[in-house]
Amino acid sequence: MSKRRFLITAALPYSNGRLHVGHIAGAYLPADTYSRYLRASGNEVRFICGSDDNGVAALRTARQQGRDVEELTAHFNQSQQTDFLGLGIKFDIYGGTHQPDFVVNHEKFSQEFFLKIHDKGMFTKKSGKQLFDVQAEQFLPDRFVRGTCPHCGSDKAFGDQCEGCGRALDQISLINPISVLTESTPELRETIHWFLRLDQLQPKLTAWLAEKKDGQTDGATWRAIVINQSLGRIEADGLPERAMTRDLTWGVPVPLDDPDAEGKSLYVWFDAPIGYVSFTAAMCEKAGESESDYERWWKDPDCKIVHFIGEDNIVFHAITWPAMILATHDSDSIQGERGEYQMPHNVVSNSFMNIKFPGKEEEKISKSRGNAVWIEDFLKRFDPDPLRYYLTAVAPESSRTAFDIDDFVTRNNGELVNALGNFYNRTMTFTHKYFEGKVPAVGDRDDVDNAQIALCQSSMESVGKLLDACQFKAAMSEVMALARAGNVYFDQTKPFLSRKTDMVACGRAINVCLQTCRALTTLIAPFLPSTAEKCAEMLHLDDTYSEWSFANCQMSDGQALGEAVILFKKLDAAELFSE
Ligand code: MF3
Ligand code: ZN
Repeated sequence: MSKRRFLITAALPYSNGRLHVGHIAGAYLPADTYSRYLRASGNEVRFICGSDDNGVAALRTARQQGRDVEELTAHFNQSQQTDFLGLGIKFDIYGGTHQPDFVVNHEKFSQEFFLKIHDKGMFTKKSGKQLFDVQAEQFLPDRFVRGTCPHCGSDKAFGDQCEGCGRALDQISLINPISVLTESTPELRETIHWFLRLDQLQPKLTAWLAEKKDGQTDGATWRAIVINQSLGRIEADGLPERAMTRDLTWGVPVPLDDPDAEGKSLYVWFDAPIGYVSFTAAMCEKAGESESDYERWWKDPDCKIVHFIGEDNIVFHAITWPAMILATHDSDSIQGERGEYQMPHNVVSNSFMNIKFPGKEEEKISKSRGNAVWIEDFLKRFDPDPLRYYLTAVAPESSRTAFDIDDFVTRNNGELVNALGNFYNRTMTFTHKYFEGKVPAVGDRDDVDNAQIALCQSSMESVGKLLDACQFKAAMSEVMALARAGNVYFDQTKPFLSRKTDMVACGRAINVCLQTCRALTTLIAPFLPSTAEKCAEMLHLDDTYSEWSFANCQMSDGQALGEAVILFKKLDAAELFSE
């Protein structure tokens, strides 16, 4: 396989709270699995993330909690990193758009990006009406104002988006707007902003998206949810110009020498995706490269950029961000010439995940009502891999699914413990008991043996294909099918009987089982990295165990094995999440 270059990003989480299972299932876990797989198959990969610190989200939480916004974002930047680390989600860099080590660089990149678009005449500067809180003496951008949605009537609508129907909103269309700061009714006042000329970019964007619709473009399979939501949005509303500046001082200052720009920042959705770029540059610098080496990842058509996001981020990543990129281009090429920012190769989005506690109805995950499983709480009691397993098994890849506590326990016990764990364990203990912990001789394989070995090989190929196509759920179920086939093989060849009558046949069967364990160790690695590490230790494999093509590498006769360890524990629904 030829080596390719990938830049993988996962949506920058707002640094105003902890992470729950919905966040992880939405973007971070699939992105981590994908990055691990691409690395294992010999590609050059960087996996980028960091916190989204600017804008109203953090500011609002800071005010509610009476905290300093910089202290708040630094705190959650750290605690989210702890959650990711505990889950084995491993970034090459974790930045933060307002974190001390990143903010200077981030502002520079964001301002340069803004100026490039400005110089190309792709902003309209104009005055318009915005909601103003007279008591607080300030404008109310985005989530500082709530009200009733003009589209669906939900009362959970905010100045930027409706939680009820998910549509992006113009704040002045809100019915009965209320200031979140003072609970007063705001009034309309004139203010000046810079609007991205999405109307001008619409034809190019539509053509670009339409090309993704036919499934395979340049080897990327775009999910229907991404195409349908973004093309649907363009069909329904067209692409009106959108303000890329805000009346706020918490954020990246608008870099214009213009009195009208005073007291204004870039819209947080403008600077946040540029975080992917500025953190890449910071990563290059940390690695002792020059900062401009970020261009190798961002401005080189040979590098594939893949964004992993949750459903509520689709429009921003499939329309607004690509529009920003297009607006910087000097060339006519949609993808971008070498030396220009490249359009995303793929935007991979999951739907949302609901939650279901035992004996209760399935509900939306919500922090305010305590309806969530927090990563911090989970990791206090459990290993990360059963959670990774479950979140992949029920991943909302094509529609909303639920984290069902009872189902989590059932699958852990039935699939991880009884199928995968049991297969390793019976193979290992048998080898230690009857073959002095050494790989027994391969002998003369018969058809049944050969079929099992062939299955290892074909699984490596099919799991690889599915992972290439970002079909994580299907890929993991193929891996589990191989573990189950291992158990069937063990039951059929009955080494526990042949050990009394025919040690050669017995050894032959155990050899095949160990080869299957060998293959499984590589195949589970992108999904269950800490389990794979334990398996590699059991089999005495070196660091190359995760290299994909080695899945089919056979262990040699007489090779000594490590100690057998139990991979998974049985769980009980009652002990889960009880206080
Ligand atoms: N902070 C946003 C969210 O949690 C995601 C930002 S993704 C980025 O929904 F690209 F803009 F950084
Ligand atoms: Zn609505």
